Amino acid sequence: MDNNNYSSHRPRRRVSRKTLRRRQLTALFIIAFLVLLLVLLVANACSDDSKQSGGKKNSSTTITTVTTTTDPAITTTAVITTTVPAEPVNNSDFVVDKLSVKLEVGETDTPYVTAYPAGTFEADERWSSGDDRIARVDSYGHITGVSPGVCYVTLRSAADPKQEVMIKVTVLGDEANTTDQNSTPQSNTAEAPAPPVYDDTPGLTYIDGILVVNKSYSVPPTFAPGLETICYTQFQKLSGAASKEGLSIWIGSGYRSYHDQEIIYENYVKSDGKEMADTYSARPGYSEHQTGLVIDCNNIDDAFGDTPEAAWLAQHAHEYGFIIRYPQGKEDITGYKYEPWHIRYVGSKVAEKMYKANQCLEEYLNIKSEYE
Ligand code: DAL
Ligand code: ZN
Repeated sequence: MDNNNYSSHRPRRRVSRKTLRRRQLTALFIIAFLVLLLVLLVANACSDDSKQSGGKKNSSTTITTVTTTTDPAITTTAVITTTVPAEPVNNSDFVVDKLSVKLEVGETDTPYVTAYPAGTFEADERWSSGDDRIARVDSYGHITGVSPGVCYVTLRSAADPKQEVMIKVTVLGDEANTTDQNSTPQSNTAEAPAPPVYDDTPGLTYIDGILVVNKSYSVPPTFAPGLETICYTQFQKLSGAASKEGLSIWIGSGYRSYHDQEIIYENYVKSDGKEMADTYSARPGYSEHQTGLVIDCNNIDDAFGDTPEAAWLAQHAHEYGFIIRYPQGKEDITGYKYEPWHIRYVGSKVAEKMYKANQCLEEYLNIKSEYE
């Protein structure tokens, strides 16, 4: 028996115009609802993506130019610059009217801040340039082109240094100069020299010629070398070599003063409590960042550990004189959780030995890392 016979012979019901119109309206409403639902789903997916790539911890770009003369034989000019991340980054609650700026040399432009993170006010704006040779920025956010190239200007909240936004600055001009800083990798075959030794500075601890800073060894609040030139130039070689392989490694956080660390650490204590903060953030005076020999690469986020950049760093950082300072599985020895992004400059002789022996600094020097 064909079940369709019944329906195919059902008499057709007459439908009034009013009913027809009502049905059309209902259909329209359903379609509009579905479209809205689709739009909401897409928007939600996008915001999840940005959360995943964001989620920064203590990322700050403290960038200044410092000249320090110590031993007559050692003159350190610390010019702090940054290699260029692919795109502007705003994982903060700052809202600015532009995330990229194009300037001629000598021209000035100012991104306008239209909203601030909670608890942050205009007076808390802290502006810094990733590369003063390319663009300068003053304390009001006026950005001035200095020479052709690309760099980032960072706006950070003094009240909450986790809140930062990076603005891409392109200074127009000679194309050769513009591309030079990132796309001309230098050879990594040359030995990376040992960093300078400040043996006349009281309060520093050198063991086997290495400046040691961990939970057992601090540096005085007044020690402020800025990012060491050798650390920066070796980093440029490293990021240049990585870029040859299509990878982008840039400075997420470099030199941090005692005071910078004070703000960062206190914020973490406020949000996570002291015990937890001590597992990933150093107390002021106990951060290696204060030595000027450390760079946090890219986004300071656990997700960085799964990127090809992190894998490349783990394999090649020693060739440029750097070590992964807080390796996975050595948390009880270093005193800190795994930080795939934190590289410490020690020079290639030491870095090579530690890499081959699979040792962290505490193992290599046979020292502890424990607060008293
Ligand atoms: N995150 C490292 C331990 C520091 O704060 O220096
Ligand atoms: Zn770090």
